[in-house]
Amino acid sequence: MRLKDRVGIITGAARGIGKAIALTFVREGAKVVLIDVDKEKLQILEHEIVNNGGEAIAVSCDITKSPGVVEMVNQVYKAFGRIDILVNNAGIIRRGTIETVSEGDWDRVIEVNLKRTFNCSKAVVEAMKTQGYGKIVNVSSIAGKMGDITSAPGYGPSKAGVDALTKTLARQLAPPQYIPSSSPNYF
Ligand SMILES: NC(=O)c1ccc[n+]([C@@H]2O[C@H](COP(=O)([O-])OP(=O)(O)OC[C@H]3O[C@@H](n4cnc5c(N)ncnc54)[C@H](O)[C@@H]3O)[C@@H](O)[C@H]2O)c1
Repeated sequence: MRLKDRVGIITGAARGIGKAIALTFVREGAKVVLIDVDKEKLQILEHEIVNNGGEAIAVSCDITKSPGVVEMVNQVYKAFGRIDILVNNAGIIRRGTIETVSEGDWDRVIEVNLKRTFNCSKAVVEAMKTQGYGKIVNVSSIAGKMGDITSAPGYGPSKAGVDALTKTLARQLAPPQYIPSSSPNYF
């Protein structure tokens, strides 16, 4: 069991890839905190895990609503006393082209996929630093590297942003021995 007694938070855990990640974490011995707006599916998954002997807490919240994420982190602390892994998986897609996509769709995709990856990461960093252990896993997409024909133009850029955010956090949060002393500035 590679994650025995680790505490993992998975956003967008009610279905799809997030659900698969949550179930894999439980199989590997982790306690999981399941985050999603879809309360019904989330509770079904929580029961499934608990009934099979795993430990899970479902926190139904919209990660774009304040103080959702901060409250979620407080609940995790109350329940488990630590946060070892955050998986920023929640994401949305809109279909369309530059001609058909609305500015509102652009904003929403950037907000859920990129800004909330930043917010959720920010919310757990202090806890991870205090306990001297932590992993943040961001779920991106090939569309962030290659662009995409069918998704509306906000999706690829949101995931490219996630890639850059991931690399930035890696540089800023890695233990000192992994940060080269001659690390250049790239701005
Ligand atoms: N499915 C694919 O082929 C694919 C390919 C590349 C990348 N991805 C990425 O993988 C991740 C998961 O994809 P999926 O296909 O499982 O998606 P999905 O739509 O099946 O599941 C996403 C989950 O996130 C939840 N969610 C959405 N907005 C939320 C919010 N504001 N607050 C809380 N929860 C919210 C949804 O309710 C849903 O349960 C996404 O980040 C997606 O961009 C997916």
